[in-house]
Amino acid sequence: MKINERLQQIGDLVEANSFCLDVGCDHALLDIYLVKKNKNIKAIASDIAEGPLEQAKKNIEREHLENEIETRLGPGLKTITKEVDTVIISGMGGRNIIGICKESPKALKQVKTFILSPNNYQEDVKRYLCKNGFYIDNEEFVKEKKFIYQIIIFKKGHKHYSKKEYFFGPVFLIKKGPLFREYFEREMKTREILTAILPKNYFFKKKQIQKEIQMIKKEIED
Ligand SMILES: C[S@@+](CC[C@H](N)C(=O)[O-])C[C@H]1O[C@@H](n2cnc3c(N)ncnc32)[C@H](O)[C@@H]1O
Repeated sequence: MKINERLQQIGDLVEANSFCLDVGCDHALLDIYLVKKNKNIKAIASDIAEGPLEQAKKNIEREHLENEIETRLGPGLKTITKEVDTVIISGMGGRNIIGICKESPKALKQVKTFILSPNNYQEDVKRYLCKNGFYIDNEEFVKEKKFIYQIIIFKKGHKHYSKKEYFFGPVFLIKKGPLFREYFEREMKTREILTAILPKNYFFKKKQIQKEIQMIKKEIED
């Protein structure tokens, strides 16, 4: 079964011997990839909607992996079982991911690793999890077609981050590389368009965006 570059990279970041809960599994292609890697990874493929979960079940059966992957219907972290140590949430908006975490404070205590790939509001997701018992252990970019996605690995623990680290990502700031440059060049262009179209009375918003543009310029030129 063919898996895309983004999901493959997420799968490759999962540690051997993990017990994963994939929230919003959709087709369960990630879970199939994970258990086929032979790294003793176990997975629960869960989704809030019946349609995707039915498709997931079909795909799992086609691969004869019913004994390795459990499917669970339900919202967010409500489908967690006590064995789960790693939660994966990808292909959802950042605000949805934060909502999912807020709904299940007990589950948040149990989880050791979050592997998250929010489509937007990445900075908010980082701030939320780092205020709630996690630190950023790794960050990766993956480019698929014309999009560049962030994949963030959070581990249990505490670290203090500056505004700049939250904005760019503390690990991204150290690693940098060509995708860092491309990603933040796009962020800069979006902000340039925004400041050009914002009405005059959005003075403070404009000022803040202009500051961010300067910050990005400085960082990608370094
Ligand atoms: C765009 S798909 C992403 C699928 C896959 N994770 C990926 O990265 O390609 C989003 C999936 O998340 C599910 N979903 C959305 N909100 C959810 C929630 N609160 N709990 C569980 N699943 C959710 C949707 O039903 C859908 O199947």
